Amino acid sequence: RGLLRPGGLWTSVDVVAATGSTNSDLVASGAGEGAVLVAEEQSAGRGRLDRTWSAPPRSGLFFSVRLTPGAGVPAERWGWLPLLAGVATASALSRAAGVDTALKWPNDLLVTVDGAERKAGGILAERSGDDVVLGIGLNVSLRADELPVPTAGSLALAGAAVTDRDPLLRAVLRSLEEWYTEWRNAGGDPGRCRLQEAYAAGCATLGRTVRAELPGDRALVGEAVAVDGDGRLVLATAEGVQQPVGAGDIVHLRP
Ligand code: BTN
Repeated sequence: RGLLRPGGLWTSVDVVAATGSTNSDLVASGAGEGAVLVAEEQSAGRGRLDRTWSAPPRSGLFFSVRLTPGAGVPAERWGWLPLLAGVATASALSRAAGVDTALKWPNDLLVTVDGAERKAGGILAERSGDDVVLGIGLNVSLRADELPVPTAGSLALAGAAVTDRDPLLRAVLRSLEEWYTEWRNAGGDPGRCRLQEAYAAGCATLGRTVRAELPGDRALVGEAVAVDGDGRLVLATAEGVQQPVGAGDIVHLRP
C-alpha cells in the first residue's frame, strides 16, 4: 500500500485494516477536504436507502473521500456529486481494469456477467456540515460463491484484466480528482463541464422501461427519457406525463 501517497486534491490517504464503515468514520472525523479513508474490511458498511453493504475482507475496494465544494458551487448542485463519482469510477475501471461498467441511475455500477447485468459497485453520499463524504464500494475479486446477493457481480466475474486493488484505487482517485476539479471550476454546472453528457452516455437506465419505487410505498412505471439539470431521472409515463424522480430505487424492467 506504500504507493498510495497523498498528492493533489488528496491531502491524506489512510488505510485501516478494519472498521465499521469508512463513511461513518469520515463523517465523524474533523478531516479536511481531500481526506481519503480506505478499509481492508468493513463490518457495518452502509448503502443508499438505509441498506447495508457487505463484502468479504479484502475482496474489494471500500473507501470514502471528503469534499468541500464550497461557496463556488450552489448547494442545489451538490446532488451531482454522487453521479460525478459514478462517471469517474466507471471511466477509471474501463481504463485500468479493462471492464465496461454502466450506471444504473443514480449510481449503481453495473457489469455484465454471463450476459446478465449485475451490480459490482455502489456509491453513498452524505452531508457532513459544509462537506460531502462520498463512499465508494466495489466488488473486485469476489467469486460467484462469495456474492452477498444473487444480483451482485464483481469485476473479476466480468473478466477484469486487473484485480489488484492498489492500481484500481489509484485510477479511481485520479479520475475522481479530474472530474471534481472540472465540475467545481464550472461552478457545479453539469452542462458546462460535460458531466451531464458523460453521465447520459454511461447510463444504462436511459431508454429503458423502469419501475421507480418511491418513498411512501408508491411506484411509478415509465420510460427513462432523460437526466435533468438537477440529476433527476425523468420518466415518461403511459399517460404521457414527464415525471422527474429525485430519490428512490429503480428497477430495470425491459431493454
Ligand atoms: C449503495 O450501493 O447503496 C452504496 C454502497 C456504498 C458502499 C461504500 S463502501 C465504502 C463506504 N462506506 C460505507 O459504509 N459505505 C460506502
